[in-house]
Amino acid sequence: MAAINIQKVGIIGTGFVGTSIAFTLLQKGLFSEMVLIDVNRDKAEGEAMDLSHGIPFAKPMAICAGDYDDIADAGLVIVTAGAAQKPGETRLDLVNKNVGIFKSIIPEIAKRNRDAILLIVSNPVDILTYVAWRLSGYPQERVIGSGTVLDSARLRYLLGQRLAVNPQSVHAYIIGEHGDSELAVWSEANVSGIALDQFCEFRGYRAHAENEQKIYEHVVNAAYDIIQKKGATYFGVGMAVGRIAEALFRDEHAVMPVSVNMRGIYGIKGDLFLSMPAIVGASGIEKVLPLDLSAGESERFFRSVTALQGIIDAIDL
Ligand code: LAC
Repeated sequence: MAAINIQKVGIIGTGFVGTSIAFTLLQKGLFSEMVLIDVNRDKAEGEAMDLSHGIPFAKPMAICAGDYDDIADAGLVIVTAGAAQKPGETRLDLVNKNVGIFKSIIPEIAKRNRDAILLIVSNPVDILTYVAWRLSGYPQERVIGSGTVLDSARLRYLLGQRLAVNPQSVHAYIIGEHGDSELAVWSEANVSGIALDQFCEFRGYRAHAENEQKIYEHVVNAAYDIIQKKGATYFGVGMAVGRIAEALFRDEHAVMPVSVNMRGIYGIKGDLFLSMPAIVGASGIEKVLPLDLSAGESERFFRSVTALQGIIDAIDL
């Protein structure tokens, strides 16, 4: 096995999401080598060429199209390959097709590279992160799903807009499934330590439950709305994954709601990947930080658990 190069990242799938991630990593000046892998080799080569022509405006990076042998030493492998949601389709509708694709991808990575961090983006991301963990044989700390990092960003953006405050000062989480059963943890939301309800009242808002529901609905339906209008989502998830990759690359010990194995948390007995705040650094998941949920939030969280456990139990790996 080749020694791991933490400066090297592989991206599998050069569709809208994979190339948005590649563009984000280039803009952030992360990594010095990037290998793009796609079943359509011409597409991967075209994307590598196009991105490379921007390097004079960015930090140096060797970007090429390649295959699995070329990522045998990659420190990070980001998987975006798979069918994407069509208008009206749920993420869970993709499970059978994308599990089949993962069965052809993950073993090709794992038989060449035993030490990378796998960052799963393909949907349904929680299910496919579990599948990648099972098929790769990697320790769970090094198999991470992008989860609800994007959903939480959507929540923070919408709250920032409504409260006229920088969304980077809004601390609020969407947890659970990256999908229809996700939930907002309103009880812990705050603006730089000021409880959300109190900050809302600073801005003259008092119908908290009603306003929270409206904002939640915008968040949980965001992908459907965007897909209906432009056919796909990719810039938001590209930047969200870029942020996760940055925390891994710079060993930031940053807290973010990524999809992690929840076995043993909240009394969950099975292996099940869902989003929960966790400390993310160069070794992957350093520690999962289970939020202190209200009774209502806990009940809703276990709806995610039930929804996904049934699907996972039915998968033949
Ligand atoms: C979305 C896709 C990444 O939520 O699931 O935009």
